[in-house]
Amino acid sequence: MVQLTLPKNSKVAKGKTWPKPEGSDPKALRTFRIYRYDPDTGENPRWDTYYVDTSKCGPMILDALFFIKNEIDSTLAFRRSCREGICGSCSMNIGGRNTIACTKGIDEHKGAISIAPLPHQPVIKDLVSDLTHFFAQLNSIQPWLQTETPTPQGEWRQSPEDRQQLDGLYECILCACCSTGCPSYWWNSEKFLGPAALLQAYRWIADSRDEATGERLDALEDPFKLYRCHTIMNCANVCPKGLNPAKAIAHIKELMVERQT
Ligand code: SF4
Ligand code: SF4
Ligand code: FES
Repeated sequence: MVQLTLPKNSKVAKGKTWPKPEGSDPKALRTFRIYRYDPDTGENPRWDTYYVDTSKCGPMILDALFFIKNEIDSTLAFRRSCREGICGSCSMNIGGRNTIACTKGIDEHKGAISIAPLPHQPVIKDLVSDLTHFFAQLNSIQPWLQTETPTPQGEWRQSPEDRQQLDGLYECILCACCSTGCPSYWWNSEKFLGPAALLQAYRWIADSRDEATGERLDALEDPFKLYRCHTIMNCANVCPKGLNPAKAIAHIKELMVERQT
């Protein structure tokens, strides 16, 4: 009989409760439960509890993480850069939902706020996921303009109507919230490209200036790369930029059918 045993480090321990910041206003204190893991130590992951004085930090979850790092525990690791929803670096799972920390308000959550790294990705440390595979998949769809027409003297021109076709696509900040929230991607991420890479694939297919549409569709004609999307819609539900990767995937599937008829 098959015996399934969880790896030793898959058990998450209770962790440490850190002291409340000195001189804090009890009414302004919020509780954060944060996933801590450092694979190099060989220790199991744990949930540490911190108290943040929200009267002494900005209003966003990222501000609370900075408060913890600067005032309580400098060993906490998280990624961030722009702090205004542009770079996609601060993606994580907040209150059970993938999102970006810099545009998510503390007051959007009631009670203790749990924060974990993006699900189903290897963890480098604490809230920092290893997105090497995610970006390799993005690279595989060749996310750049490809043309055969000789390069014009000026810019590649595009009508306003053609430019509009890119709305809802070009805004993607590659935060990976959608792909790491997609059940199909969890189970098939080696072969299924996932919603973020597919949204980017469609962004170039839909670009009137690009002349590699046939090759792009050929590269996606595969039982796994595209067709593992089962329209579960988690991707659209979690996207912090309000994009709809499932719709982009559906457009690619339509084009696949059209070119066969
Ligand atoms: S719609 Fe497709 S890509 Fe989006 S979450 Fe569902 S299966 Fe994943
Ligand atoms: S589609 Fe949305 S959730 Fe997915 S990577 Fe782009 S911005 Fe992030
Ligand atoms: S820090 Fe850039 S998106 Fe949050």
